[in-house]
Amino acid sequence: MNYENKIINGDCIEQMRTLPSEFVDLAFADPPYNLEKDYGVYIDSNTPKNYLKWTEQWLKEIIRLLKPRGSLYLLTLPKWALHHAVFLDKFLFRQNTIAWDALSTPRGKIMPAHYSLLFYTKSLEYTFNQLKSKHNWTHCSRSKCIGQRNFSSLQDALYSDIWSNLYRVKHRGKRHAHHPTQLPLPFMERIILTSSNRGNLVFDPFLGVGTTAIVAKLLERKYLGIEINPEYVQEAQKNLAQAFSFRSRLEFQNKPQESLNLNNFL
Ligand SMILES: C[S@@+](CC[C@H](N)C(=O)[O-])C[C@H]1O[C@@H](n2cnc3c(N)ncnc32)[C@H](O)[C@@H]1O
Repeated sequence: MNYENKIINGDCIEQMRTLPSEFVDLAFADPPYNLEKDYGVYIDSNTPKNYLKWTEQWLKEIIRLLKPRGSLYLLTLPKWALHHAVFLDKFLFRQNTIAWDALSTPRGKIMPAHYSLLFYTKSLEYTFNQLKSKHNWTHCSRSKCIGQRNFSSLQDALYSDIWSNLYRVKHRGKRHAHHPTQLPLPFMERIILTSSNRGNLVFDPFLGVGTTAIVAKLLERKYLGIEINPEYVQEAQKNLAQAFSFRSRLEFQNKPQESLNLNNFL
């Protein structure tokens, strides 16, 4: 069976168990965080012990699917990341623990303002692309905003383990009505460009409304996604069709990959 450029509707553990070993170049996982979010099908409320047990089941499968030079990025809350790292350290090489400063509103207590992004590789030889500083990561390139950044240069910002210039999808017009935790496209863009090459297969077992697959497609990678909620699968398919026509327009205009501005899309 061909697993390229597919979205599978189903439970990721069951589905991954049917997949062959070592065919994924880059895996990205953005699971539910046990925060009682409304995902329709999956119930996001469990005891911490059962949540961690469930996590280890799907992490074990992802590790099996990764190619020998493959990479895994896992986005989660800092409190879960500590547990996941203890588990993953037994099987993979930890490269970085990145803090994504996604901002939050003060509510009278210390608010969790950052997410942890664990970056692991299956061996010590792995794909790592040094991105060009001219790449447009930020949503605002006015000189006033650039001047306000804490980094001495954009290049430093790209390779620091604090990612602070990638904003959560907040705007109603940009967030898909049915999904509570859709990720911003530039966040996935940074991961996919850094840790995969054109033609590689990018895998996401918690696809949501398709952010990973969309960016993979726009950057000429192959994708495979699994999502348990059929409504999100439909939404992801719709978004992918739009990405396809966006990509074709770029090809028609003969624009290089580096000039992609994902803010023009969606
Ligand atoms: C945090 S969201 C991912 C959002 C995604 N990154 C995006 O940008 O759209 C987690 C997703 O995992 C899905 N999910 C929960 N349990 C699942 C399972 N066992 N197998 C596959 N998908 C699952 C939920 O329906 C939800 O869409």
